[in-house]
Amino acid sequence: MSIPVQSNDLEAQLQSLRQEAQEAIASTDTLDALEQLRIKYLGKKGSVSRVLGGMGKLSPEERPKIGALANEVKEALQGDLDARRTALQDAAIMAQIESETLDITMPGVFRPQGHGHPLTQTMNQMIDVFVGLGYTVATGPEMETDYYNFEALNFQPDHPARDMQDTLFLPNGNLLRTHTSSVQIRYMEEHEPPVRIISPGRCYRRDTVDATHSAVFHQLEILAVDEGLTFTDLRGTLKVFLEAMFGDIEIRLRPSYFPFTEPSAEVDVRWKGRWLEVMGCGMVDPNVLKSVGYDPEVYTGFAAGLGVERIAMVLHQIDDIRRLYASDLRFLRQF
Ligand code: DAH
Repeated sequence: MSIPVQSNDLEAQLQSLRQEAQEAIASTDTLDALEQLRIKYLGKKGSVSRVLGGMGKLSPEERPKIGALANEVKEALQGDLDARRTALQDAAIMAQIESETLDITMPGVFRPQGHGHPLTQTMNQMIDVFVGLGYTVATGPEMETDYYNFEALNFQPDHPARDMQDTLFLPNGNLLRTHTSSVQIRYMEEHEPPVRIISPGRCYRRDTVDATHSAVFHQLEILAVDEGLTFTDLRGTLKVFLEAMFGDIEIRLRPSYFPFTEPSAEVDVRWKGRWLEVMGCGMVDPNVLKSVGYDPEVYTGFAAGLGVERIAMVLHQIDDIRRLYASDLRFLRQF
């Protein structure tokens, strides 16, 4: 036989539970711990529920009294939990704001910013002009065969024009390309006209290095092939290009000879009171068109090639080509 439960026992239990819970809530400092307290006191199997479990043994008169007190305690604790949760969340937000505050009065960290090498800048500037005219960029290998560097470009095996190209031959029978004209052949072999390409890249010659010569240098090749292209198109294109690069500069075309163009010309620009040769050009020789399977009765083309270093030197008044390769920051920072 169980001992009847006294209502004042339950009342005392509820009151002490309330006190204990309130102290625990007040001293909690994490949201997780707070949730544990909610489960411990107000959960389905929590302390308050357990106390209420004893109510069945109360007399009918005492039950409402204890029931009301239990509700009061529940509400009070729920209120305390909510208030504590809000306080903890606010504190967390404040702490985050505090830690992320940016002091805009602090001195910055110096990060030196680099820029393109003057040769790269010049190259990109030239590419921009031709891309604007509808040309695409094509590339080819720096190690070439005799065929692409000479033969297909109409250099006869013993023609003296080969001598002008101071070639570096490799032990494997290949050579380092002496000009970017080899890309003309490689591109035309793979594409049908109309052709409008430029080809920037490194070239090599067995040259003695001095103020205007370097054994490794850069060229930009220009090639257009279509029906009905004439020398006028060549001249107009070069004029647009040179004006875009140099502004209002005086230019002249001088008859010249290249095996792969007929007629051929050299382009000079007026620089420091004298004529400076900046590029070679001409109408693509019918033999070159034939070598890639184009019909020279249907198509004509023009081509040009220039030294990038030359153009950069004229643009920036650089007196010695070797400065472009010396990696001297005092020099490079100027551009
Ligand atoms: N390949 C020649 C050189 O390196 C430059 C050149 C001249 C390219 C005339 C051309 C051209 O496309 O038509 O000296």
